[in-house]
Formats: sequence, structure tokens, C-alpha cells
Amino acid sequence: MKVLVIGSGGREHAFCWKIAKSPLVDEVFCAPGNGGISDAATCVELTAIDALIDFAKEHDIDLTVVGPEAPLAEGVVDAFESAGLKIFGPCKAAAELEGSKAFAKQVMAEFDIPTAAFGVFDDPDAAVKFIEAADFDVVVKADGLAAGKGVIVCDDKQQAIAAVRDIMVDKAFGAAGASVVVEERLVGEEASFIAICDGENVLPLASSQDHKPAYDGDKGPNTGGMGAYSPAPVLDEAGYGEVMQKIMYPLVRGLKSKGITFRGIIYAGLMMTPKGPSVLEFNVRMGDPETQPLLMRLKSDLVPVLLKVASSDSLADTVLEWADGPAVCVVLASGGYPGSYEKGREISGIAAAEALGDVKVFHAGTREDGGRILTSGGRVLGVTAVADDLPAALDRVYQAVERIGFDGMHYRKDIGQKALKRMK
Ligand code: AMP
Ligand code: GLY
Repeated sequence: MKVLVIGSGGREHAFCWKIAKSPLVDEVFCAPGNGGISDAATCVELTAIDALIDFAKEHDIDLTVVGPEAPLAEGVVDAFESAGLKIFGPCKAAAELEGSKAFAKQVMAEFDIPTAAFGVFDDPDAAVKFIEAADFDVVVKADGLAAGKGVIVCDDKQQAIAAVRDIMVDKAFGAAGASVVVEERLVGEEASFIAICDGENVLPLASSQDHKPAYDGDKGPNTGGMGAYSPAPVLDEAGYGEVMQKIMYPLVRGLKSKGITFRGIIYAGLMMTPKGPSVLEFNVRMGDPETQPLLMRLKSDLVPVLLKVASSDSLADTVLEWADGPAVCVVLASGGYPGSYEKGREISGIAAAEALGDVKVFHAGTREDGGRILTSGGRVLGVTAVADDLPAALDRVYQAVERIGFDGMHYRKDIGQKALKRMK
């Protein structure tokens, strides 16, 4: 069969790499792809939904898989399905769970899903009043999609009030900031709980953990994610069960009762608090970079699972098999990221890094230029390694990282340290 993957990041490279290994698959295409995806898929320069549908029809694509949130929020799944094409991902109404943080909070409140106390405001003065009256520290979030950047974790009321002004008055995130969610700032360790849902059954993937802040020790501004590993020991078996019972099933059943059948990925960003897991956000797609270590650990063929969901079949009997050993991904970023950065720097050492064995360098912001690989984004590469245990995986991934270089390259040197501490 032929598969089309939509997207251009490290997550999509990992999808293409995994899908291309499936014995069911003859050919993989990626739209638009990046400088490294051509090792697993044919890249096609398309992003508009109409053009993607034409392409899928012309090339007899059997299954389309959507990586990022933007096309989901735009309704790519509804459009493909109306055109009679199979596609994996939630419909537009279900994608609101990520597309509007206010909607997500309202759903959580309605179905008693544990989450921080909150208020939703479309008037900045009302948001400021809420902040002034709150007896807790707050986080201010732009309601709409802001490429992972619309969240400001505040240390005091002054900063929170400034955040409301930035988002709502100065429109720092454009239309995404027409309304804001102001919520209680929670304390704890974060984990990513990602599951595949067929509208009824929830098939959890292995646990994982992202590293959002730019610098070591969780310092600096938030990024799209500077590294990830799987499994995440912060989510033990009991925690896993709790997330399924208190979060995933109430969510899927609750949405269903509102007439929304969720078929696709549900990603709960969790804070593990002393009172149990609490939802910071829902995403409706795989995490980036969590996908890279997760798919490196996944032993089962992913394609039949995606195909079932896209065909409205049940996942009730589906079981996923994972490698016992952990996988770790370290993101190499452009100098200046997550602020402004330059592009077009030549990257060296990718083949040498992979020559270590059990290492895969997933491309994110790269482009190919006459045989050279150049930087073309903030997060450039996701160097990912598997091994029998975490210390060995960390050794391997950082050895691989040291073989790679480009002008201004920066990365976190402490990926996986939280897991290592828990194991001691
Ligand atoms: P979000 O995009 O909503 O996941 O927020 C991005 C990051 O902001 C999260 O991964 C957390 O690190 C942080 N964050 C979001 N909400 C909260 C909260 N209520 N308390 C503490 N940190 C938060
Ligand atoms: N790694 C965080 C995200 O994909 O949103």
C-alpha cells in the first residue's frame, strides 16, 4: 500500500521511518517533508488541503497520516473523508481540544477530569481581576494555537498581568490571544501520556517525558521540546491506570456524549502532583520530540493500527509491543532558538553519528542542497538512541551528538537526568 504523511518535522521523519519498515507498505510520501525524510519517503512540496487531496487521489494513496496540529484544526481529516480518502487523525470538531484551550478546560470541568483551577476571559480587565483575587500563582495561556509558545508561566501577579496585556492587547500571538485561560500554576514533574483512540477504546502508548525549557536544569524559555525519553519512570503502573480511568476514558466518553467521536491521537500533557496526575493540556497529535524515542521503541507494526482507526474499526483487540530498553532523543537546535536564529548552516557528522549503531538521527529543521544538509529551522535534528538501560542509552546518544556539528548548535546536556534520579 501507499502512505502519505503530512508534516515536516522530526515527528514526521520518525513516522515515515517507522511506516516505511512495515511489510504492508510499498511506498511512503511526505508533504512537504524536510532534508532528511527522503531516506524513508518521497517528499512532495504540498501543504494546501485541496492539493493534498488531489495528490492522494492521483497517486492512489491508501492511508494519509497527519503529523501536526495546524492541518487538523483546519479540517484536513473532514476534507479527506468527504473525498472518500482514508486518513488518520481527529476531525475538526475533535481537534478543538488542542485548537482552543478554553474548550479543553470546559470539557475537563464538565467531565470532572483533574486539571488546574481556571478562568476563561475575552476581556483583559476581567482576567486581571481574576489574577488579583487569586490566592495562587498563575499561568496565562493564549486560547488558540500558538506553535507551543502561547503559555506564560508566571512568578508573580505583576508578571501575570503583563502576560494578559501582551497576549490580549499587544496580540503577541495574534488571533490566538483573542481570549485567554488563566489557571493555577501547578508544581510537580511533567509526563506525556499519549494514546491512540478509535472513538471508544483507548490504546495507550509507552510513557514518555519531554524537556520543554531551552536550557539545562529546566532553565530559560519554553521551546517545542529539547529532548525526550521513553519510558518515563515518573508514570508507574498505578499512575498509568489512574490516567486511563480519571482522564482518558472520561474524556473520550464525554466527547462522545457531546457528539464528537475522537479518532486519532490524544496526548495529555500531565503534571504529576501530590494529589495525582493533572492535565496541563491536551494535544490531538503525537508529541515532538516524544514520537522519536517512542517509535524507536515500538516493535509492533504501526500501520495496521493507524489503518484500523482510519477505517473506523475497533482497537479492542490491538496490543502494542515495546522494546524493554529505553530510548532517548536529544534535540540539536539553532543558535538563538527559541528566539530568532539563522538558517542555512551546513551540518556535518550525521552519518558518523548513525554509524555508532542503534542511533537514528531524525531531521526536523533541515533542507538538502546539492548533497549538503543545511539548517532550516529552530529545532534542527533529533538524535535518538536505544540501549538496554538508561545510562547506556544516554552514553550512546551523547556520543552520537558529539559527532554532529553546525555553527551555533546548542542542546541540553541533561536529557534523561530526572529518570536517572528516580532509578537510583
Ligand atoms: P501547555 O502548552 O499548556 O502544555 O504549556 C506548556 C508548558 O507550560 C507545560 O509543559 C508546562 O511546563 C507549563 N505549564 C502549563 N500549564 C501549567 C500549569 N498549570 N502549572 C505549571 N506549569 C504549567
Ligand atoms: N513535545 C511537546 C509537544 O509536542 O507539544
